[in-house]
Amino acid sequence: MKSKTMFVCRECGATSIKWLGRCPECQSWSTFDEVEINENEKKSQKRTFSNHAEKFSELKMPTYMRTCTGMQELDRVLGGGLVDGSVVLLSGEPGIGKSTLLMQICSELGKTRKVLYVSGEESKGQLKLRAERLEITGDTLYLLTETDTDAVIAECEELKPDVIIIDSIQTLSSERFTSVQGSVTQVRESALSLINYAKKNSAAIFLVGHVNKEGGISGPKILEHMVDAVLYFEGERTNSYRIIRAIKNRFGSTNEIGVFEMGDKGLKEIPNPSEVIMAERPINTSGSCAGCVIQGSRPIISEIQALVTKTAYPSAKRTSDGFDHNRMSLLIAVLEKRMGLKFYENDVYVNVAGGIRLDEPSADLSIAMALISGITDRVISDDTIAFGEIGLSGEVRAVSHIDYRVKEAVRLGFTRIILPKKNVTGALKVPSKVQLIGVSNIYEVLPHMTKKV
Ligand code: TYD
Ligand code: MG
Repeated sequence: MKSKTMFVCRECGATSIKWLGRCPECQSWSTFDEVEINENEKKSQKRTFSNHAEKFSELKMPTYMRTCTGMQELDRVLGGGLVDGSVVLLSGEPGIGKSTLLMQICSELGKTRKVLYVSGEESKGQLKLRAERLEITGDTLYLLTETDTDAVIAECEELKPDVIIIDSIQTLSSERFTSVQGSVTQVRESALSLINYAKKNSAAIFLVGHVNKEGGISGPKILEHMVDAVLYFEGERTNSYRIIRAIKNRFGSTNEIGVFEMGDKGLKEIPNPSEVIMAERPINTSGSCAGCVIQGSRPIISEIQALVTKTAYPSAKRTSDGFDHNRMSLLIAVLEKRMGLKFYENDVYVNVAGGIRLDEPSADLSIAMALISGITDRVISDDTIAFGEIGLSGEVRAVSHIDYRVKEAVRLGFTRIILPKKNVTGALKVPSKVQLIGVSNIYEVLPHMTKKV
């Protein structure tokens, strides 16, 4: 029988019956690969099925076996350790430290579990050099340099590892498919073979995925749907801090983050990120305010900086790093309307220190205060921290987890805590030197800023 073919975009997975120069879905150029469709499979005759639905009440509770990776920051993001038989996609830009992190956890995992590290990118020599530098030990640690998916699976069948690390999924390909290495088909099929192996043998797998310029995982987006957890490894080249966050996790929360610092001996965990971030804070400058967000199970204190300068453009510039751009525009509009501050004459640059992303409403008050401080040149003293949600009328609304936030602020030595009035209750206990300042509207914060000296 004549086999039919179709064309699949290797960037986004869009399909077409004829070859296209540019993908109509993701607008990439020359990304269509030809793949075969097996007509015989479609025309299979009468089939019988043995899979039946079960009563919910009769289902057994699963017990997940978890293994500690030796890095608490990573365990936290995974939901309390690596689950047996789970497939985790670790993605990030080249050079961010994915291989370093995975090699480091091999050391701890290798003490109790059989670990296979498969590299399609580096030679054994290079890997050995890195392992030396990272002081990796472990008696049950194996290394394979291979790019053929079927060879990797065959080796797994023989070695029976408990943990498999694939660095990276884009380097794997199988002769069973005609498309080139790194194409949608190859990446998807390689991942599928590995996932099937993992589920059948209860082995945990880490897949390293490269991120393209736009931030998407290059090759098929479909990978994200196939795996149990998707972790993003982020950070800036210019500073040594690295943050891991879960974008998806079938075995835990997705709010958790793990913080690391890249040094000459690999990644070091930062269990108290607030302290590290606040240590670099400038003192006595306008446009700076401390804020606190809850990331999963822990509060993180960060510094918000707002630079407000007279604009030289017909329309003022607005940029924000670490905070939602639309939310910043909304806060600026509230401050213009409710406090008469003339932001429209000024460019505004907002930055959150330490690469932390403030994505909960409680950050509003600290951002607004940094903006007010920036435009009025008033200084917020370094013993002050603020959190609260701001409404369109300029009202300050109550926020959740108030006791966690206050506790962390007190631990870091803040003595003036500006918070929503509704959150100040008798149940909130603080040492006598700490002042709780309840505010119900944004203009009430002005007396707590001082004229620049
Ligand atoms: P790597 O783990 O190779 O990144 P990825 O796998 O995400 O592409 O990390 C590479 C960078 O990390 C490289 O620029 C060197 C740096 N690095 C250190 O600073 N210290 C170290 O101990 C190691 C192993 C790497
Ligand atoms: Mg690498």
